Amino acid sequence: MTGDLFADRALCGTTLPLGAHARVLRGFALAHVDALWPGLQAVIAKAPLRHMVTPGGQRMSVALTNCGALGWVSDRRGYRYAPLDPDSGRPWPALPVPWLELARGAAEAAGFADFTPDACLINRYAPGARMGLHQDRDERHLSHPIVSVSLGVPAVFLWGGLRRIDRTERVTLLHGDVAVWGGVDRLRFHGIAPLRQAHHPLTGAQRINVTLRRAG
Ligand code: SIN
Ligand code: FE2
Repeated sequence: MTGDLFADRALCGTTLPLGAHARVLRGFALAHVDALWPGLQAVIAKAPLRHMVTPGGQRMSVALTNCGALGWVSDRRGYRYAPLDPDSGRPWPALPVPWLELARGAAEAAGFADFTPDACLINRYAPGARMGLHQDRDERHLSHPIVSVSLGVPAVFLWGGLRRIDRTERVTLLHGDVAVWGGVDRLRFHGIAPLRQAHHPLTGAQRINVTLRRAG
């Protein structure tokens, strides 16, 4: 993986535009990983990662959990945000302050001032796990951006248009990259191709995605 490490360093600090109001901030989270990692572990200890079921009855290949006032959940009744962890009946763990600061900083760097997330979804991809094309549209107000942080093994982000049938661009997201989209790009279809087998020193064979949103 030395090739990837080199690419990582070469891209770090650059911005990849994905649309008028969408971009990937390469390596934006790298300097924060030491501050972000303990909070992530603490959240997972209190609200373990689990495989939810889609409204159609399929087990998601991604394991997920949440922190913050609201958590994204899926079951036979549909997708929604919920204040309580359905597994424990307790509120989701608090959103760690370093995650809030990263979200605000990344949103600002992408042109969205004063972003204050109240929902943080943590997705864990093992080799082969994927996320089908979808829009993020369960949030109450679509005026706030999405801030999506990649950690660990690289993944191919599928970046589509406003219609499901629009062609998708394939963008490799590396450890420390932050994708931000809002405004006219807020409802762009997106997904993750099946995760390839690889190794990362921090996460082993896995990829972790942390998505920060204002849902309520
Ligand atoms: C998502 O769209 O919820 C996840 C995207 C990602 O894993 O990068
Ligand atoms: Fe999404």
